[in-house]
Amino acid sequence: MEAVGRTALLVCWALGILTEVTSDFIHIPSIVHHGTEGKPLLLSVEVHFPLDDAEIQGTWSHTRPSGSRTTLVTFTKEATITDMMYRNHLHFEKPNVSLTIWKLGLDDEGDYHLSLNIEFHNKTGRVIKEERTVHVTVDAPVSAPVIQKYPSYAVVEDKANVTWTCSVERGTRVAFQWLRNNILLAPSKRHHFSQDNSTLFISPVRKEDKGTYHCVASNPVSPGRHSRPVELNVYYGPYNLEVNSGQGLRTGEVFTINPGELAFFDCQADSNPPNSYLWISKSRNSTKVITEGPRLELMSYRLAQAEEYLCRAFNNVTQKQEEAQFTLVVASLGTGREKHIQEGHSVSPLAVITVCSLFIISCMLLVFLRRNCHPKRVLMSIYNRPLSEQKKPRSGHEDATEDFGIYEFVSIPGKMESAQVSCRSLARLESVQDMHTTIYDVIRHVPETQSHSLLN
Ligand SMILES: *[C@@H]1O[C@H](CO)[C@@H](O)[C@H](O)[C@H]1NC(C)=O
Ligand SMILES: *[C@@H]1O[C@H](CO)[C@@H](O)[C@H](O)[C@H]1NC(C)=O
Ligand SMILES: *[C@@H]1O[C@H](CO)[C@@H](O)[C@H](O)[C@H]1NC(C)=O
Ligand SMILES: *[C@@H]1O[C@H](CO)[C@@H](O)[C@H](O)[C@H]1NC(C)=O
Ligand SMILES: *[C@@H]1O[C@H](CO)[C@@H](O)[C@H](O)[C@H]1NC(C)=O
Ligand SMILES: *[C@@H]1O[C@H](CO)[C@@H](O)[C@H](O)[C@H]1NC(C)=O
Repeated sequence: MEAVGRTALLVCWALGILTEVTSDFIHIPSIVHHGTEGKPLLLSVEVHFPLDDAEIQGTWSHTRPSGSRTTLVTFTKEATITDMMYRNHLHFEKPNVSLTIWKLGLDDEGDYHLSLNIEFHNKTGRVIKEERTVHVTVDAPVSAPVIQKYPSYAVVEDKANVTWTCSVERGTRVAFQWLRNNILLAPSKRHHFSQDNSTLFISPVRKEDKGTYHCVASNPVSPGRHSRPVELNVYYGPYNLEVNSGQGLRTGEVFTINPGELAFFDCQADSNPPNSYLWISKSRNSTKVITEGPRLELMSYRLAQAEEYLCRAFNNVTQKQEEAQFTLVVASLGTGREKHIQEGHSVSPLAVITVCSLFIISCMLLVFLRRNCHPKRVLMSIYNRPLSEQKKPRSGHEDATEDFGIYEFVSIPGKMESAQVSCRSLARLESVQDMHTTIYDVIRHVPETQSHSLLN
């Protein structure tokens, strides 16, 4: 009961609000206007009662952000008095009570206040007062922003700071944003912005700051206007120096080439501007510059002698250098096939382990299968041994001569949960002839002592 009462109360209250809303005699569709300088602005008012049934009297007044207040228009149904100072600036719409400002100036900003008294003919003596306030901002549209670079030239990584300023010729209340490669830049350890975001300060500048920058200027009446793209060039490096060769055989930093083979070595590094390269030969005591440039051509006949080489990359702007050392071994690699063997040698321990493991696993599987399900009997029937032999009951090891034959390792698809499963699967194999089978062993001789089982 109480709940019902409460619901009823709630409904009444909601209805009350509704009736209050509908009892509004005037409505202002928009109470905030972002006006553009030089453009007209209509402060629209909807009148929700028949003007013929009432007397009205009211004013429009303007309060500037500074606080000074001016009465612009005073009106009744019959007469309108506009402040003489604003005669050519304002227009009061008679049927409704909307106000138009012909040409917005920056000093037209502020709050516009409508005060309206209504007296209905059917209820004389009772005056209804309606008051509304409309907030107006006036902005000049933003012109295309321009970036000023400081310094104007390319900068060196880690050594320089960058201060870029974005400015507009026209526009009020301008907000700035910065984009690098079309991604918005946010303040970070190295990226700082001035209070209004018009200045971008990068300290220190780094390789990853390289890119195309835009600044975006906007205000309430202009969508984001983009500046022309501006490049930030950062000198950096060399980084990630690497020596590569298409010839010979590479193992880590050791290159092996055939005697008499002409081998090319290429040095590469990430650097801006591109760095210069020096190739240096290191003999036991001395180092000697062999050549300059990214490529080294070598032909060596000195067999089995390791020679040390060095590629030195130098960036003459950052004054940084990096070196990559490698060893050259001249050895007969032969043709491609032998190369393969050679390659095999380098991974031989792993290969040996793999082969051994496979062998051991195979042996274990064989033992397992023999112990648990005597695949021989099944298999022999596959190979059409005489029927009489097949029907003889056996334990599996009575006679070694019977063990003579072709043994198969049968891979059964799916999980082998237990020995029983595998036995059944093997039995099924008789009917399923197209199953994968692998021959792993052929016993080539009949053991002389018949008492020994093969697997014992
Ligand atoms: C108010 O009246 C003017 C002039 O008749 C009209 O242009 C304007 O649309 C009206 N505004 C509303 C909100 O009815
Ligand atoms: C008087 O007239 C107005 C408009 O015609 C109407 O909204 C209002 O309800 C009337 N009031 C009374 C008491 O009849
Ligand atoms: C870069 O800015 C840092 C402070 O952020 C200052 O210590 C350093 O001296 C500036 N470097 C140059 C080259 O102006
Ligand atoms: C400056 O830019 C950042 C993001 O780029 C933004 O979050 C912040 O509001 C901006 N500040 C001003 C004053 O525009
Ligand atoms: C290497 O240098 C040492 C001393 O610096 C010198 O005694 C030796 O003879 C040099 N060896 C060669 C092969 O040049
Ligand atoms: C730096 O090296 C480049 C070639 O790699 C050369 O063109 C340039 O003149 C050099 N600059 C200086 C300052 O040495």
